[in-house]
Amino acid sequence: MKISDERAIEQLITEMTVAEKIGQMTQVSKESISPAETADNFIGSVLSGGNDNPAPNTPSRWADMVGSFLDAAADTRLGIPLVYGVDAVHGHSNVGGATIFPHNIGLGSARDEDLVRRMGQATATEMLATGVRWTFAPTVAVPQDIRWGRTYEGYGRDPGLVSRLGAAFVDGLQNPRKTGFGVLACAKHFVGDGATSWGTIVRDETPNWWDDWGENWQIDQGDARISEVVLRSVHLPPYAAAVKAGAMTVMASYSSWNGVKLHAHRGLLTDVLKGELGFSGFVVSDWMGVDQVATSYEDAVVTSINAGVDMVMVPIDYRRFIHVMARATSTGRIPLQRIDDAVRRILRAKSFARLADPDQQVPPLSVVGSAEHRSVAAEAVRRSAVLLKNDGALPLPAVSRSIDVAGKAADDIGLQCGGWTVGWQGGTGATTAGTTLLDGLRATARHDVAYDQEGWFPERDRSDVGIVCIAEPPYAEGPGDCAEPTASDEDRVVFTRMRDRSRVLILVVYSGRPLVIPDLIARADAVVAAWLPGTEGAALGELLAGVHPFEARTSQPWPGSFDALQEPGASPLYAQGHGLSLSGAGPNVQRGSGSGQ
Ligand code: GLC
Repeated sequence: MKISDERAIEQLITEMTVAEKIGQMTQVSKESISPAETADNFIGSVLSGGNDNPAPNTPSRWADMVGSFLDAAADTRLGIPLVYGVDAVHGHSNVGGATIFPHNIGLGSARDEDLVRRMGQATATEMLATGVRWTFAPTVAVPQDIRWGRTYEGYGRDPGLVSRLGAAFVDGLQNPRKTGFGVLACAKHFVGDGATSWGTIVRDETPNWWDDWGENWQIDQGDARISEVVLRSVHLPPYAAAVKAGAMTVMASYSSWNGVKLHAHRGLLTDVLKGELGFSGFVVSDWMGVDQVATSYEDAVVTSINAGVDMVMVPIDYRRFIHVMARATSTGRIPLQRIDDAVRRILRAKSFARLADPDQQVPPLSVVGSAEHRSVAAEAVRRSAVLLKNDGALPLPAVSRSIDVAGKAADDIGLQCGGWTVGWQGGTGATTAGTTLLDGLRATARHDVAYDQEGWFPERDRSDVGIVCIAEPPYAEGPGDCAEPTASDEDRVVFTRMRDRSRVLILVVYSGRPLVIPDLIARADAVVAAWLPGTEGAALGELLAGVHPFEARTSQPWPGSFDALQEPGASPLYAQGHGLSLSGAGPNVQRGSGSGQ
């Protein structure tokens, strides 16, 4: 089946039945459909949601699972290739053993387009090895309120920075130099997802998830109550940049703009995105995002498709979706011209990704989690950690005999990776392969490095140098909404124990956003905001040991009080763009040390 150019696409559309067209517009979770059923229903795309991994969760099992769907689609009447989608948002992050890069808030602190492009290329290469050709990334939100559980998925508060880094990631994903074949990027969530106000989600009879997630879900999927000037000047530019970089898919946002759901917003989805910005790819809904548009499912589907949604992430009851689409098309509620436009866009994206190209050079499975990719990730870790404060504690002193390290997070891969890692909400412990801060200190520092999670070191009454690592628990989306982001009580106890016994105390923070911890910052001699560094945590050890310089600058203001979170104009403890520089290759490190591999 050829979809190599516009003429071939138009020819194909004339050959397709309405059922085949509707099938292309349907995306289903792999948990809800078999390969045979995808063929029977001409399904255009299958996805793995954050938790939808094969068992065992290995690269080879992924390749087999994805391949079974691709093969089924190839056997259909027209053989239109199926595209498999995942949330490879900081590496091929569902897959066990994959390279996990820092989350976007860290990359926003590194501020380096070339680094982000190389991350995109490495991510695309690991995806290609498993047959996955579409990632729902980059998030190009411009987060305005750090209480939002998706703050860390955004590069930062500056629209220009978000635009530059988002475009670089799109380029890296879609045009990797080495493999020659890219994967489809997806700029999300269009538009204004980072502009919603606290307390504006509506708990009514339309089906929403948040009912199961308790009262803390207060801002994610809420209402962006902003003017068109602010929407266009702050939240739209990253999409213009992503479209200019060639992004072939965009995901609609669950959120609303002044009370109108984005999934139902024809003005923004069609007139602005496809008209003004000239977006030629396709718009995909979010997971059950269409369902939220109206209480009647048929009304919700008709409204969303006519507004400009081209593919629906159903993702469970696909038979109901197909039935409703067939009825709405036959009655004319959805014009056939709109169906053809959606299918044209989908086929154009599949053509761009060369899914049907027979001589695709699929990289070997050994590229997943390769040393080369982990080296890029380690560089990203070093360049994203922000030195907030340093009263002479860093680089680590040459003369001290020992370093005492405390805090569960100092040796916990799950805590350093955060959400969207192997599981939707992430996890704790050895959730995947990687190295920790403790590994890095032991591999790099010249000192005797002792570790106790609780900070007990009975063999010594005092520590020359203490390092305590605290962390937010992992989270993703609305479950991560938090009225008062701060350190946990447990981490505070360990911090105080280490403060009391250490001559010099260094605080390392793993978090998806700035935390309100002015008391801890005041009592520490140095503070490093490491964000969510991913699997290569050992690189932080090198940084503290002085092997590499501190150069990062925080891409969000760092508040000094909870009140400041309610007052957008309040002066922060540290301004956006803050970060101390510290030269690398200090006197007290082993030369040529690895990153604890
Ligand atoms: C989600 C997220 C979206 C993600 C999608 C598929 O609910 O909002 O970012 O790409 O589901 O996992």
